[in-house]
Amino acid sequence: MNDFMFRMPTRVIFGVGACKNVPQLCKEQGFARMFVVTGRTSTRKSAHLLTLLAELGKVGIVTQVYSDVEADPSVETVTNGAAAMAAFAADAIIAFGGGSPMDAAKSISMISANGGSILDYMLVRKAYTKRGVPLICIPTTAGTGSEVTAAAVTTDKETHRKIGVSSDFQMPAFAIIDPELHVSMPLSVTAATGIDALTHAIEAYIAVKANPVTDSLALSAIKMIGENLRLACGNGADLTARGNMALASLIAGGAFTNAGLGAVHGIAHPVGAQFGVAHGVANGIMLPYVMEYCLVANYQKFRDIAIALGQDVAGLELQNAAQLSVEAVTLLKQDIGIPATLAEVGVPAEALEGIVKDASTYRQLGNSPRPLDENDLRIIISQALAL
Ligand SMILES: [Fe+2]
Repeated sequence: MNDFMFRMPTRVIFGVGACKNVPQLCKEQGFARMFVVTGRTSTRKSAHLLTLLAELGKVGIVTQVYSDVEADPSVETVTNGAAAMAAFAADAIIAFGGGSPMDAAKSISMISANGGSILDYMLVRKAYTKRGVPLICIPTTAGTGSEVTAAAVTTDKETHRKIGVSSDFQMPAFAIIDPELHVSMPLSVTAATGIDALTHAIEAYIAVKANPVTDSLALSAIKMIGENLRLACGNGADLTARGNMALASLIAGGAFTNAGLGAVHGIAHPVGAQFGVAHGVANGIMLPYVMEYCLVANYQKFRDIAIALGQDVAGLELQNAAQLSVEAVTLLKQDIGIPATLAEVGVPAEALEGIVKDASTYRQLGNSPRPLDENDLRIIISQALAL
């Protein structure tokens, strides 16, 4: 067995109505001024956020809301947020929303403490040397796992590149997981974020850097998603399915922040940055193509995935059992309405080389169980483009 390290410092508070704990948590921690980062979408007007702000006000906590975060937060959004937070002199941050507000909040916190521009950390790989102000993440989607991970992704709109920055210093201090916040999530968002969580779990499980702890987390997340994502999509008010998906997303986050990701994310980032395809949708499209290509590298683990997703592998040769993992993911995708090809979401055939070029620079490509060079990526992406 290989040596490994595992870390997950975030204090997790899970439960229906868990948001009610936030004012008391802030008081306990001595936070008097909270900078609240949220999205431009309906989330900023949600009754849950308005109630939270009112409850914080009742115990004397001053808040300032920064609701300029777009899907795939930009360099400008991080820069402006850091300036606004500095002017407000916050004690801590609350990130309320999906992966975009949570990632933006992480970067805002880190830039405030470490100085410079987020571009310094994205492009020249400058390392953070200090913690930012503490971060309380309250996810309203079940997919990103950002509430427990070390990573934050920012999009450089000028060069159309999405780049993740990873640092233990930006792991959130607290994650409040309240399934009630997920009930109003639209079907399309439930499906896209849910398949993102499945991608995290599968990429972590087959990763070169996987270890026994991440394997345990990843496999249980895969099973929970297989059992609950259809239910959450079919009936958004099903609090048990919502809670299980929220938990699976967090568990998958704990797995991938330690084991890393792979080629699905490496390809999904340029697809998202160049063509505006939602992160979860891009991952969902690419997932079976990358799995199929990587099967040969670890039949045993793909067989485990097939079983976790409910496939009957009794009496099958290992290779055939492993193949069922791809079938199971494809069926799940069909059932929840994730497109089958990049062509279906408007990515043209001419985009092939641009996506290959960008994906080949992905920092975690070496974490793929099957080593992938540009030619391998070209084959996989060509298939997804239906060329
Ligand atoms: Fe992701």
